Amino acid sequence: MNRILGIDVGATGIKSAIVDLQEGTLITERFKLQTPVSGKPKEMIDVIHQIVEHFDWEGKPIGLGFPAIIKNDISWSASNIHESWIGFKIKNEIEAQTGCSCVVINDADAAGLAELSFGKGKGIKGTMILLTLGTGIGSAIFNDGVLLPNTELGHLKYKDSIAEKYAANSSRKLKDLSWEEYGTELNDVLEHIDFVFSPNLILLGGGISKKFKNFSDYISSGLNVCPAEKFNNAGIIGAALAYKIYGK
Ligand code: BGC
Repeated sequence: MNRILGIDVGATGIKSAIVDLQEGTLITERFKLQTPVSGKPKEMIDVIHQIVEHFDWEGKPIGLGFPAIIKNDISWSASNIHESWIGFKIKNEIEAQTGCSCVVINDADAAGLAELSFGKGKGIKGTMILLTLGTGIGSAIFNDGVLLPNTELGHLKYKDSIAEKYAANSSRKLKDLSWEEYGTELNDVLEHIDFVFSPNLILLGGGISKKFKNFSDYISSGLNVCPAEKFNNAGIIGAALAYKIYGK
């Protein structure tokens, strides 16, 4: 079971590829489809099915990273997707529609697993935190390599709302923030997280991690922060890896 289809479901796009789990690399081109604007289960599962068909992957194992709290194979939150995902039997429904055996975990937890096994998190002792900066902010916390799932640090109370409303990449775009303004906002959030968890390392993932140099000057030098090595592919690789770890 060294080749699994990894699907990284986001609030704006659904990315996928077949992953070689020995190497932690994509062995096909990335295939990306838009997330349906409704964000509703039926429409989103239709897109997942199209992805399975694209890779001719019916009946084979798939790992999915999904932007919500996932507990006991049910999705329990819906920040940037339709509220009907709350209490939805996500694993059962995807398996019924695609005919594939699947494992679903939170998207940031998936990205964290990829970095831990194949990226900058390899061999890190103590606490490591990965934050994904995209439409929302996702988080994965590991202690000595063990995941504490569904931590949702993007939902920490911050200013008038929650952290992701200020420091996600979508807020930078929406408010047209300069790199200095964005970096300063993000730094505030990182300092708070650092104070609460005392991590040995904070990794930043999501597409914006490629642009880390643009805002790194505004991140306090006392924080051990760096971009994730697998950048935007961590979500796909980690989703596939989740099947290997948690699948039957
Ligand atoms: C969701 C998280 C998710 C993150 C990144 C947040 O809004 O609450 O579950 O991991 O976005 O997609």
